[in-house]
Amino acid sequence: MSRDWVEWHQGYDPPGSPLAGRLEVVRQNLRRALGTSPSEPDGTRRIVSICAGDGRDVLPVVAEHDRRVRVLLVELDQTLARRARETADDLDLPAVEVRTADAGDAATYLGLPPAHILLACGVFGNIGPGDARRTVAALPALIVAGGIVIWTRAGDASLEVRALFAEHGFNELSFTVPPDARFRVGMHRLAGPVRPGPLTGRLFRF
Ligand SMILES: C[S@@+](CC[C@H](N)C(=O)[O-])C[C@H]1O[C@@H](n2cnc3c(N)ncnc32)[C@H](O)[C@@H]1O
Repeated sequence: MSRDWVEWHQGYDPPGSPLAGRLEVVRQNLRRALGTSPSEPDGTRRIVSICAGDGRDVLPVVAEHDRRVRVLLVELDQTLARRARETADDLDLPAVEVRTADAGDAATYLGLPPAHILLACGVFGNIGPGDARRTVAALPALIVAGGIVIWTRAGDASLEVRALFAEHGFNELSFTVPPDARFRVGMHRLAGPVRPGPLTGRLFRF
């Protein structure tokens, strides 16, 4: 990895920072997704976050919810993955797996049941356009029909990501453009019927 992602996370700390603002929008979207996504007949929902960082966008929201939410965080950095595991323990969330693995490698998702909600936050700004296309094209293989994806991208480049979702069978639920910051947060639902191709090879490289 080319950047110090532990240091990058310090951008969340200053109150009112753009990253702190983005965090609030992502959490609000996740609360909404937990109320509106499909679930298993017993109410179980599976969340997957790719390039999950320390999980601060997902774990506190899941802790507010009932305990039928299962979480998989995929994060390559060992320090951030450890922090995510500590947060899950502190919040008493037993159904959280933090996989220290390459989220850009399709093999990481082998045998995984499809998620009801998937987060791809802080991903599209770090990968090239071809990888962004491959990643969005792969998402239907990772989520259930009607599943919800929450994603972020800064500035006008977010419009290209937004268009990719429209091209790959997703309906837009929301697209947040704050008046005073460059971050954008999109939320898209996979429209059925779903005919995902096989998930193989590499989706993206940071
Ligand atoms: C911009 S940060 C976003 C973190 C988190 N999603 C958030 O929004 O707070 C990108 C994260 O991706 C992780 N990362 C980079 N390459 C990765 C890969 N191939 N597989 C999994 N995680 C990766 C980094 O360690 C970092 O935590």
